[in-house]
Amino acid sequence: MDVSGPTSYVMTADEPFRQASTNPPPNSPGQVKSYSGGYTYFSGQVLRMTDPENIPQYEERAKEKVNLDRAFLWNYISYGTGVDRRTLTESKLAFKRYWLQPQVLTVKSKPSTWTTVLGSPIRIPICISPTAAQVMISSPDGDIQTGNAASRASTLMVYSSASGMKIEKFGSIVPHGLYWAQTYLFHDRRNTLHIVRNAERFGFKALVVTVDTPVDFLSGSGRVDAMDELLGPSCVDVDMNPNLIYLNGKKRENRIYGDTELWHAKHGIGNQELYCYATWEDFAWLKTKAARQAIKAGVDGILVSAHGGRQLAGVPAPLDALPDVIKAVKGSNVEVYMDGGIRSGSDVFKALALGARAVFIGRPPLWGLAVNGEDGVRRVLQILEEELTTTMTMCGCASLQDIDSSFVKHESQFKSML
Ligand SMILES: Cc1cc2nc3c(=O)[nH]c(=O)nc-3n(C[C@H](O)[C@H](O)[C@H](O)COP(=O)(O)O)c2cc1C
Repeated sequence: MDVSGPTSYVMTADEPFRQASTNPPPNSPGQVKSYSGGYTYFSGQVLRMTDPENIPQYEERAKEKVNLDRAFLWNYISYGTGVDRRTLTESKLAFKRYWLQPQVLTVKSKPSTWTTVLGSPIRIPICISPTAAQVMISSPDGDIQTGNAASRASTLMVYSSASGMKIEKFGSIVPHGLYWAQTYLFHDRRNTLHIVRNAERFGFKALVVTVDTPVDFLSGSGRVDAMDELLGPSCVDVDMNPNLIYLNGKKRENRIYGDTELWHAKHGIGNQELYCYATWEDFAWLKTKAARQAIKAGVDGILVSAHGGRQLAGVPAPLDALPDVIKAVKGSNVEVYMDGGIRSGSDVFKALALGARAVFIGRPPLWGLAVNGEDGVRRVLQILEEELTTTMTMCGCASLQDIDSSFVKHESQFKSML
């Protein structure tokens, strides 16, 4: 991989243009009392622990581990904005409204899942969305574990500028693999430049600019009380955002550990830096100032996203927004991806059938990280890959190029036939 710096810009926005399987494992009758999330119980005792077998089981197991002593962290990961958290719920349900249309006796060998994102080859069309707080979930090396897992799967990870790990550390420890760097259009442009310059320096291949944060999601009505803890005493030894090197117009000389004023839910100066009224002018500035190489104006890709249902309450599920975005960019070279609610390989297939070039996942890798560090993230990717390959085989698709809208039917189409 060369170190010529980001040459591509991907915009992630809220619609920019307009549980666990509890099947018992094979067992001798009468021996297993209950089975849940990979634990096998016998007379109330845990006999053995098996790896979770699907993504909902990873969520269940992660909850057991994280929620036990760090409820605030679990609440942070699971958070959905709005009183009814509808965007979060719908993001998952949207997939269930599409049904698969199989095609048999056509595939001769295991389907290929290789594709490219902005010219870089990836072995699976499943990439990792930028998420903060990874250093709190498994170990201080959380982001690196995720990066290594993505690299082992030969896929892409997007590093979050809100990570608890400095971009310099992430960049210097995981030089192999494919990484994009996410940034916000920070209030102080020097913070944005700090991300961009380091992304260039360490060979990140693209910048993902998140543009749906003019206001702080914590101020939303669906905010959970335990969230206060995230910003309070429980985090005394964590610098919540080491990438913010300018605060209140001044260089932040020393790292401020556990400074609750910095990250206080509503009044923190760190929040004011991140959540601000950025506009298209700021985006244009980023394009001119930040790119080392000449690049054409405009974005190279759009990640259709509802920020995991964590920002504006009431935006549609990303899957439902996807077809309009695809239509809007038709005839251009802009690549369209989506994230939000993907919990199985069949979900991946449906998103690709509706036109996404690749999908991104946010919470599932965090669950993997919580359960088993790097190996957990790797396994999450593996499960999705296996499920995708099975779906492709059953639908008669030998490669990703074969997947199109003819393989999915929205439930409304069935109803209209009645
Ligand atoms: C705990 C958590 C932290 C997140 N942090 C960021 C972030 O720092 N930057 C960003 O652009 N998106 C962030 N997101 C949004 C994700 O990138 C992604 O859009 C979302 O999680 C996808 O939905 P999914 O979790 O259903 O896969 C975060 C999401 C979660 C759950």
